[in-house]
Amino acid sequence: MTLTTDSLAIFCKKKGFVYPSSSIYGGMAGFWDFGPLGVELMNNIKQSWWKHFVHSQEGVVGIEGSIISHPSVWKASGHVDNFNDPLLMCSKCKHKVRADHFIEDKLKQSTENLSSDDINALVQKHKLVCPQCKGVFEELRRFNMMFETLVGGSANAYLRPETAQAMFTNFKLITETTRQKLPFGIAQIGKCFRNEISPRDFLFRSREFTIAEFEFFLHPEEQKCSRLSDRQKNVKLRLLSAEVQEQGKHDLCETTIGKMIAEKKMSGWHGYWLAEQLLWYKSLGLTKLKVREHVKTELSHYSSATFDIDYEFPFGSKEISGNAHRGQYDLSQHMNVSGEKLDYFDEESKTRIVPQVIEPTFGMERAFLAVLVEGFHNDKERGKGEDYTVLKIHPQLAPFKVAVLPLLSNKEEIVGKARAVYDLLRTEFRSFFDTSGAIGRRYARMDEVGTPFCVTIDFESLQDDAVTVRDRDTTKQERVKIGVLKEHLSKKLSS
Ligand code: GLY
Repeated sequence: MTLTTDSLAIFCKKKGFVYPSSSIYGGMAGFWDFGPLGVELMNNIKQSWWKHFVHSQEGVVGIEGSIISHPSVWKASGHVDNFNDPLLMCSKCKHKVRADHFIEDKLKQSTENLSSDDINALVQKHKLVCPQCKGVFEELRRFNMMFETLVGGSANAYLRPETAQAMFTNFKLITETTRQKLPFGIAQIGKCFRNEISPRDFLFRSREFTIAEFEFFLHPEEQKCSRLSDRQKNVKLRLLSAEVQEQGKHDLCETTIGKMIAEKKMSGWHGYWLAEQLLWYKSLGLTKLKVREHVKTELSHYSSATFDIDYEFPFGSKEISGNAHRGQYDLSQHMNVSGEKLDYFDEESKTRIVPQVIEPTFGMERAFLAVLVEGFHNDKERGKGEDYTVLKIHPQLAPFKVAVLPLLSNKEEIVGKARAVYDLLRTEFRSFFDTSGAIGRRYARMDEVGTPFCVTIDFESLQDDAVTVRDRDTTKQERVKIGVLKEHLSKKLSS
């Protein structure tokens, strides 16, 4: 199988990772359901994120905010006025396309720095027409991406398009109730909703998705990062700088976080978190990464500097994570609109200050896709000349850690012994018990969904109380006593 967006979606559906939402009714564009394997993989990615960015960091606390909040939150945040995508609507059949994507596809040119007038002029010049009925487009308009809903039947509200705002609106409560001292962070993982004009690329651009992000609050004058060590400074990256893009070029340069900070391309804290983001992706096994600095004209309304981390998907190099310097924007906005004091008393200077904020943000479905793409291997040798998928994902992310397979499914004693091994393992590791089909076929099914270990029970097991453990990546087999099997697998899974 060659990896394309479509083949990935077919694979995910066939194996129970991801299904089109409400497929018995024909599906609904931009919405997906995670199946039994997908939910395990996604939960493992989320747990790994939480461990890396909340539990392993000093002063980062988690919250879980509500999906719907007071509509003033979104007025204050700027989303009501600014969270727009450029929309072209056909004057004849009313089909809608997202202008920037449409122009990128048709003319192979970015609209990043273009005004609405510029885009209208491009449409005219190149005689771009509706892809459905060839009708002409109406003037470009800006389409707000927030989903509106009615609360209690009458009050207008929005489904959140990012999780960030609950971290700002709870800032005061968190400092009061948990006595956090600057610098500190507030993190959360949760569902977000954006009314994408044209969802596409499978899970990559959908209307309902999961963001993991945190707001890291700093003294407004703090630039130097006290926590920066060689761990972060030595992180290597391939960078596409704003400067290079402004010259119309796309050349990447190899650099390190330490070098970027020394050259004043970013502040110490901004660099610290960008390094930790790259380290997390590395821990998931991802290698095809690059960092792209936003040019001034594409910065979000709240950001003074942003770096994206892009991953090389089969459908192009695309953003999977961002790192924005939100400055004092959000807390100041919420203070202005709510009238509440969201400042912070700085013990050292005995003054009240409004912290600045750095925000690392992660699209979790995008991480999920990248993990699948990176892990996907077609091992024709193993398939004896035929396509044979081995999903070489990090063992800690694998939906099943171990499969228990009685070698002969019709021998009661062997199946009974295998079941006892399965009962022993399943309380510790997500395990799978499979008795159906030839052993080669059962190995293949487990390789395909990334199960790191298969444990087979044979006639000999009845005599020596040992099993054969087969490694997904090497297919090497070793004999292990059942008495030490749990410890053996634990050690392997955490190495
Ligand atoms: N909070 C980050 C984002 O909206 O993408």
